[in-house]
Amino acid sequence: MKKDQLVIFDTTLRDGEQSPGASMTKDEKIRIAKMLEKMKVDVIEAGFAIASPGDFEAVRAIAEVVKDSTVCSLARAVQPDILRAGEALKNANSGRIHTFIATSPIHMKYKLQMEPDQVLEQAVNAVKMARDFTDNIEFSCEDASRSEFDFMCRIIEATINAGATTINLPDTVGYGEPGEYGEMFSRLINAIPNSDKAIFSTHCHNDLGLAVSNSLSAVMNGARQVECTINGLGERAGNASLEEIAMAVRTRHDLFPVETRIDTSHIVPTSRLVASVTGFPVQPNKAIVGANAFAHESGIHQDGILKHRETYEIMRAEDVGWKTNKLVLGKHSGRAAVKARFMELGIELESDDAFNTAFAQFKVLADKKHEIFDEDLQALVSDSQLAEMGEHFEFLNLEAVSKTGAAPKADININIGGQENHAQAEGDGPVDAIFKAIEVLAESGADLQLYSVNAITQGTDSQGDVTVRLERNGKIVNGVGADTDILAASAKAYLHALNLLESDASRAHPQRDGV
Ligand code: KIV
Ligand code: ZN
Repeated sequence: MKKDQLVIFDTTLRDGEQSPGASMTKDEKIRIAKMLEKMKVDVIEAGFAIASPGDFEAVRAIAEVVKDSTVCSLARAVQPDILRAGEALKNANSGRIHTFIATSPIHMKYKLQMEPDQVLEQAVNAVKMARDFTDNIEFSCEDASRSEFDFMCRIIEATINAGATTINLPDTVGYGEPGEYGEMFSRLINAIPNSDKAIFSTHCHNDLGLAVSNSLSAVMNGARQVECTINGLGERAGNASLEEIAMAVRTRHDLFPVETRIDTSHIVPTSRLVASVTGFPVQPNKAIVGANAFAHESGIHQDGILKHRETYEIMRAEDVGWKTNKLVLGKHSGRAAVKARFMELGIELESDDAFNTAFAQFKVLADKKHEIFDEDLQALVSDSQLAEMGEHFEFLNLEAVSKTGAAPKADININIGGQENHAQAEGDGPVDAIFKAIEVLAESGADLQLYSVNAITQGTDSQGDVTVRLERNGKIVNGVGADTDILAASAKAYLHALNLLESDASRAHPQRDGV
C-alpha cells in the first residue's frame, strides 16, 4: 500500500526557543537550521518575525541560506505581524506564513475579549493578507483541544476558502488525551466540506507527558503534518519530540499509514548541537537521543543482544546517528582534516579568523585529551564563537583548592572589558568558591537557578560540559562552558551566562513580552 507523506515541521527555533533560557543567537539559529535542512525536515519554523529585531533578522537570514526546506515565520492574525513575516521571508526559496488566533471559549472571552464571529473574521482577513506574500499559508486554531467543535468547523472551512493550505490544531496547554485528541481530527476532517483542500496538522505540548502520543494519535486519524522540536524542547514542559515521532513512524511502519523524508542518521548530532547551543542537557534515559537509550545493563539483555540483536533492540543505534560519534581526530591532525570534519558536522566557520581560533583551541584540547570526538568539536566552536563575539567577561586562569577538613578556596583571573582582574573567595565547595570569586568582581546581582555538569564523551579524560542558568530582572540565560577540567568549565559557563546577561543576544520570551 502506498503511504502518504507525513510533513515534519520543526519549531525548535520558535516554540523551542520559548523555553525560558533557551534563547539563541542568529548564528546559532543558522547552524541549527542548516542541520535541520540536512536532516530533510520539510518545514523549519525559523522564528516569530515581529517579536524582536533579532527574531526578524534570524528568519530573514535562514530564509536566505536554507534552500531545501520550506522556511516559515509565525504571525498573529493581525496586519503588522503578517507584513513583518512576509518581509522576512522575501528571499526564501519556499516560504510559509503561519498565522494563528485562539478559538477556545476561555481564550476568546478572557484573553482576546472578542466574540467568536469577530475571531472568525480576523482569521479570514489574516489568511487573505498572507496571500499577498505566498500561497503557502498555515492557519492555527490556538487552544484547539479546548475549542468547540461547531465553531472550529466554521472557522476552518472559512480559512481554507480564504487560502489556508495547512490547518494546525494545537493542544496548546497539553490538556489533550490521545483518544479524544485523535478523534477531534477524524471528526473535523469528515465534517468540513473542503477539508480535502488542506493538510491537517498536529502541534502538541507535553504538560501531561502525552505530546508524542497525542501527535501520533492525530496521525492515525488523518493528520499529515506533525509540529515538533529537537529534544522535545519548548514552552513549559516542551513540545512533541521530533526524534521520537520520526522513529515511531519508521519503526512501526506496519501500523502507520505514512512515511517521512527524515534522514534519521542526523538525529543524534542535531540533538547534541541543540543541547550545546541552548544549554538544556538531554536526560540520559531520553528516548532515541539519551546517553542510555541504546545501553544494555542487565546481563540477561546483554546475553540476548549478543545472540541476536533484535531480542532487545527495536532500532539500530547507528540509524539515528550514534555511530557518527566516532573517534575522529587527534593532536597530529592537520588544518584540512579539522576543517573537513567541521563541514561534515554542518559547522561552517565563516571567516579565516574564526577557523584559526577554533583550530588553535583544537590543538590545546588535543594536547590535554588524546581522542577528539564530534561533540568536543561542537563545544569548541561555541567557545571560539564566544571569543569572536568579544566577550565582556573573559576567563583567563583559575586555581581552586579543595582539601578535606578545610574551606574550599578559589583564586581567579578574568578580563573585564579588556582589563585583567583578580579575585579570591571561599565557598561551600570549589564551584561555590569560584562563583563567589567571580561575583566579587562582577557584582551582577543575578540569581543562580541551575548548575549542571555532563560528560561530553566517555572516559575520565572527557570534557565536562557545564550549564549555568542565571536570572536577573526576569531575563533568564543559560551559560555553557566545556573543559577537561570541570572547575574551569564551571567558571567559563558562569562567565558565559554573565556575557549573555550583558548582551542583546538573548531576549525575554517573545509572547510573554506581549508583542
Ligand atoms: O502552542 C500553540 O498553540 C502554538 C501556536 C502559536 C501554534 O505554539
Ligand atoms: Zn506551541
